[in-house]
Amino acid sequence: MQTPRPTRSVLYIPGSKDRALDKARGLPVDAIIFDLEDAVTPEAKVEARATLKAALEGDGYARKLKIIRINGLDTEWGKGDVEALRDAKCDAFLLPKVNGAADIDALAVMLPEGRDIWAMMETPKGILHAEEIAAHPRVTGFVAGTNDLAKELNCRYRADRLPMQMALQMIMLAARAHGVTAIDGVYNQFKDQDGLRAECEQGRDMGFDGKTLIHPDQVAVTNECFAPSEAEIDLARRQIAAFEEVEKSGQGVAVVDGKIVENLHVETARKILALAEAVAQTSAE
Ligand code: COA
Ligand code: MG
Repeated sequence: MQTPRPTRSVLYIPGSKDRALDKARGLPVDAIIFDLEDAVTPEAKVEARATLKAALEGDGYARKLKIIRINGLDTEWGKGDVEALRDAKCDAFLLPKVNGAADIDALAVMLPEGRDIWAMMETPKGILHAEEIAAHPRVTGFVAGTNDLAKELNCRYRADRLPMQMALQMIMLAARAHGVTAIDGVYNQFKDQDGLRAECEQGRDMGFDGKTLIHPDQVAVTNECFAPSEAEIDLARRQIAAFEEVEKSGQGVAVVDGKIVENLHVETARKILALAEAVAQTSAE
């Protein structure tokens, strides 16, 4: 089994802010989105390219996945962002407001061969075309853009996110159908730790691999919620052991804590242990 790369915490950093770019080097996040889009004002956008380029050349981000969010190609900055940063030391380019696979094609032809593309899933058209976007050979990650989505849907923010459940699930379905990493949207009240925890739990329940963050104070809770818990690890170990035991006598079903364990549950259990192992390695670095 391939060791998974944890993507629990994915922090947005304004690409224009030297101090935040520097601070992020020491934060225990799994991934960084270096933002040139909404976190940067129009006046600062051109200069931000050079600031970000210098930060990436200086590196120091260690194992963190480095993702650059450019401006849309239909804006006055998008093409310039790509030209300035196409060869930058990063793992993927994140395209905002993707409406369909054609938007990915337009970026792909401007990037070096093999450069990964992530898609912001945040427009009604993008959600309706989620599968063709996930199926695009260059796309390896989805980020739910829940603020834009709420704006476009004209829905209200609710703690249970009921008005955007279907959109979130379409993101998940498309991502899983095509082996794409799926990261949940941001939690805007960055001082509210309990609210953040509840939303992380909901995202994890749905299957998301991690959550996008706007502030360093959100990292610890998110890392915890998207890593397997001690109880999950313990259960996974007991399920594997019980299943291996019944297999010896030629049976295909074990019972653990009053619940059946079949081959498919063992596969899930092994995935949990592999992720726990990857998280432990990450923490040790
Ligand atoms: N990444 C890295 N460092 C960050 C950060 C981030 N996203 N947000 C804040 N910090 C740093 C600050 O630079 C500050 O560092 P310092 O103590 O060394 O000076 C420290 O964390 C504390 O910041 P704080 O004063 O609590 O926050 P703030 O009031 O300066 O900023 C926000 C609050 C929300 C404006 C800011 O966190 C931010 O811009 N977040 C990103 C927003 C974004 O990317 N939006 C687009 C995607 S939705
Ligand atoms: Mg957006």
